[in-house]
Amino acid sequence: MISFSITDAIEGVYLLTVVFFVLGLQRMSSPATARSGIVAAGVAMLIATLVTFLTPGLSNLLWIAAGIAIGGSLGFVAAKKVAMTDMPQMVAIYNGMGGGAAAGIAIVELLTGPNFSTTGGLSVAGGLIGAVSFSGSVIAFLKLQGWMRQRPITYPLQQPTNLIVLGAAIVAGALVVSYSGMFLLPFVLLALGFGLLMTLPIGGADMPVVISLYNALTGIAVAMDGFALGNYAMVVAGTLVGAAGSLLTLVMAKAMNRSISNVLFSAFGATEETGTTIAGAMKPIEADDVAVMMAYAQKVVIAPGYGMAVAQAQGKVKELADLLEARGVAVKFAIHPVAGRMPGHMNVLLAEAGVPYDRLFDRDEINPEFPTADVVLVIGANDVVNPAARRAGSPLQGMPILDVDQAKNVIVLKRGQGKGFAGIENDLFYKDNARMLYGDAQATVGQLIQSLKAMKE
Ligand code: TAP
Repeated sequence: MISFSITDAIEGVYLLTVVFFVLGLQRMSSPATARSGIVAAGVAMLIATLVTFLTPGLSNLLWIAAGIAIGGSLGFVAAKKVAMTDMPQMVAIYNGMGGGAAAGIAIVELLTGPNFSTTGGLSVAGGLIGAVSFSGSVIAFLKLQGWMRQRPITYPLQQPTNLIVLGAAIVAGALVVSYSGMFLLPFVLLALGFGLLMTLPIGGADMPVVISLYNALTGIAVAMDGFALGNYAMVVAGTLVGAAGSLLTLVMAKAMNRSISNVLFSAFGATEETGTTIAGAMKPIEADDVAVMMAYAQKVVIAPGYGMAVAQAQGKVKELADLLEARGVAVKFAIHPVAGRMPGHMNVLLAEAGVPYDRLFDRDEINPEFPTADVVLVIGANDVVNPAARRAGSPLQGMPILDVDQAKNVIVLKRGQGKGFAGIENDLFYKDNARMLYGDAQATVGQLIQSLKAMKE
């Protein structure tokens, strides 16, 4: 007769939740199904957490419940209150907490003293990776929040110093499992120090890539802890996070035409581009004139960027697109994969405003269409539409951009002469076919709407 223990039942539930994690991840691949994917994965995580309470011999129940209550409430309130533009730093700090938790689990395992078995080695690896992810994510948070210098912090012999700290952390970890628990504190401090030192020379512009990388590392740390504890829900969930985070990191780096090592070690953005003089001048235009151009156009392409998020102009942009479509103008949205400050930033904002998904086109789809666009409205985008990317020697050289400069008319909505995140001049603004509509995008798009409404059919 087959008999089931409570442990078997718990493992069965874990297996079910793993199926939901995978399904949830799969649904996150399209904006249309992403919300349900997040709900599915979230519910699965809740169930996995609840059934863990049934584990025989579980102690410290009150401490665990208190931790969940405090962490859960703080997370819930912060997530409800966070502004869309602050989302990257929120992801950074939550991810850091995951890394810290993974490191904490490993430390508790290592507290038992020298342990030559595989699990001791796994705990050291999990502790090292989790601690690096924790302290690195904290620096990423501070930089993105503006509580710390955003530009890369560099000094002589930086990379060799970092290598030495990493080497020392690994040696200390090896000593913990092979010799004495007294090396545990130095091991943890060195691992935390390495995460901190490794993140200092990375600029704010590269933070989303770094956060994604640390997210992958957190997943790997959790998987290692899972192996050490014999908990396969942790192994699978950690591996999924590790794999998804690694893929996202690669996709972002590819979209910027940079390698991961370039992002991590080149101190990109440490110095501003100087000495570049671009022929021509920026030519301003009034909202009424732009409205006339668009009203009589056949095709208008809207290219949004970080400035649209800052201005929270997505609702007005949707209203503008609706007005144009009502006049028979074909309106398309050009979405660059790294427009804004986080993956899918523009998709999320436009979806929130109710822009249908079938109006959004990625770079490869929309680039061939720019030469036939009568008007391109660049709303708070800069680096992702900068033709300097085609110029040898430019810091943006090789970055795939939206070819908006090939349209008949380009109207750029921005507040002033501010540079993009990469800190370099934009050749586009000086082109003959480009005009600048200055002001906060919320206000200028509002003016376009008023002008269009005031026009006769
Ligand atoms: P940016 O290059 O950051 O330019 C944004 C522009 O918006 C600025 O030139 C600014 O000019 C304007 N702006 C700011 N506030 C505004 C407002 N209230 N109203 C109107 N305009 C406003 O943006 P982008 O083109 O989206 O490029 C994103 C950058 O982030 C790229 O360098 C990319 O590599 C980097 N990055 C992104 C990611 C992801 S995943 N998205 C990851 C890593 C790096 P004014 O100050 O003159 O207004």
